[in-house]
Amino acid sequence: MHEATPDSTPALIEFTDIAMTFRDTKRSFRAIDKLSLAIPRGQFCCVVGPSGCGKSTLLNLAAGLLQPTRGRVCYDGKPVVGVNTRVGYVTQKDNLLPWRTVRANVNLALELRALGKAEISRRTDEVLELVGLTGFGDVYPSQLSGGMRKRVTLARTLVYEPEVILADEPFGALDSQLRTVLQGELLDIRARTNATVLFITHDLGEAIALGDRVLVMSARPSRVLLDEPVNLPTPRDVFSARFDPEYARLHETLWAALSPEVESGVPT
Ligand SMILES: Nc1ncnc2c1ncn2[C@@H]1O[C@H](COP(=O)(O)OP(=O)(O)O)[C@@H](O)[C@H]1O
Ligand SMILES: [Mg+2]
Repeated sequence: MHEATPDSTPALIEFTDIAMTFRDTKRSFRAIDKLSLAIPRGQFCCVVGPSGCGKSTLLNLAAGLLQPTRGRVCYDGKPVVGVNTRVGYVTQKDNLLPWRTVRANVNLALELRALGKAEISRRTDEVLELVGLTGFGDVYPSQLSGGMRKRVTLARTLVYEPEVILADEPFGALDSQLRTVLQGELLDIRARTNATVLFITHDLGEAIALGDRVLVMSARPSRVLLDEPVNLPTPRDVFSARFDPEYARLHETLWAALSPEVESGVPT
């Protein structure tokens, strides 16, 4: 047995030489090709890339909702076969059930697992507090602002205590002030839960402000073009991070890789 060193620590999520081809009756095209990526446990990894390059596909592969055409996706050292129940998925749309209260939306997954009433209630209260929704358990989604709906979505994912949060442009539709607030809250939640995060965004600034690492994906067929560590202090203040010289330097480096891809990207 060899001793674990940071370099030899197995990745929690590992994509190895992935290709993903989609086919329908008329055509077949390769969305992802030769993509390899290893995410260690505890990392906050952000991914940016042009629209349609395969970012959501990457999350679907990690969640086990799709199988790659070629290559391997491993989770905690084992191939992902079938739905990966150790990850929580925050999708772009909130998909809240309008006929259920906030509390009933959040505890749905626990009800499906047939946990006892007292435990469901305790865990739901805890997670509502974590996302700042104490006191809003009995209202319906239609009565909430966009930011609060996002909080419910996050609570719904956190309630089953996933090791990994897969987030697909979760704050994309929010105004920039609210986005900054929720970004800060996400960093706090992550610090408290030690979750590993794979976070997709089209906003380079957001990727740098939040991530321990930022990856740039190429236009289709996409692969990893650039992989940069973010040397900003942690715990991090997402607002003041923008005034750090490291932020400006990284923004320039990443944008130099990303902008030609955005221009050459095929609209979907
Ligand atoms: N289930 C599917 N069937 C056919 N094509 C798909 C499917 N899912 C995604 N695609 C296509 O694959 C490409 C990558 O999609 P996606 O991962 O959603 O990109 P992104 O999230 O980066 O915008 C797009 O061109 C999209 O239209
Ligand atoms: Mg997408």
